[in-house]
Amino acid sequence: MSKDFARPTRNPAAPGVADEEAAGPEIRPTNEMSAGERLRLIESMRPEDAETVPELHAVDVPDKLRERIEAAMSKYPEIRSAALPALWAVQHHYGWCTREGLRQAAAVMGVTPGYLESLATFYDLFRTSPVGRHQVLVCHNISCWLRGADDLLSAFCEAAGADAHEADHGGVSSPDGELFVKGFECLGACDIAPMASIDGRYYGPLDADDARTAVEQLRAGAEVLPDKALANLPAAGGPEPDPDPRVKAAEGA
Ligand code: FES
Repeated sequence: MSKDFARPTRNPAAPGVADEEAAGPEIRPTNEMSAGERLRLIESMRPEDAETVPELHAVDVPDKLRERIEAAMSKYPEIRSAALPALWAVQHHYGWCTREGLRQAAAVMGVTPGYLESLATFYDLFRTSPVGRHQVLVCHNISCWLRGADDLLSAFCEAAGADAHEADHGGVSSPDGELFVKGFECLGACDIAPMASIDGRYYGPLDADDARTAVEQLRAGAEVLPDKALANLPAAGGPEPDPDPRVKAAEGA
C-alpha cells in the first residue's frame, strides 16, 4: 500500500479500543508497522468496522466518468470484471487514481473503495499518487537491456530533468510536472527493443536522440516520433514495404 493510500488505523498498542479518538493521536500507515503490530491491529478489528459500499446517491460522480464505468460494466456478466477498466477510467479522468475517484467508481460499481484500491496498488500501470502529465515507461528487461535500455532510460531522464536512479526505482516526475519516467519490466514488444511506452503507445527501437526528441515533442504538444511508433510499423506477416527503387530497377532489367 502506498503512503498516499495509507488509512488511519487504531493504535496497535491498544487492541480492542473502539475508535480512533479513544486510541489516541497516533495514526500510522500499516506498511510502517512491524509484524507484531499488524497482528495486534488485526485482532482488534470488529465486523462493524468493515468498510461499506458508498451509496451512489450520496456520491457526486462526474457524468463522463460514470458513463465510462457503466459502459465497461455492461460488457461483463460479473460486475467485478469491470474493475480494471473502471480504474483505467478513473486514472484517465483525474490523471491518477485519486481517493475520491476510487470512491466514485466504487459507488457506481457497488463495491467497496478498498476493493478497487487493492487492485490499483497491485497493478503497475495504475498510479496511486500524482505524477507527471505524460507517462514514459522505458522497458529495461532482458531484450531491451541488451540493446541499450539503461542508456535510453538515462537519456529520457536527462531530457526530462528527472533523476535516473529514482526512475529506475518506482518512477519519478520531472520538476515541471510534464513527464513521469519509469523503468519497466518487459512490455511485450521485444522485437522493437529497446522500446518505451509513451502515453500508452509503443515506440522503438529507440536511441538517446529519439529520447531527447520525444521529450521535446511531448512538451510542445507535437506528435511523438511518428517514424518509431509501433502503430505505424508494418505488421509481422503483413504486406512488405515497397522495395528499394534500385532493386526494382535491377529486377526489371
Ligand atoms: S524486453 Fe523490452 S519489450 Fe520485452
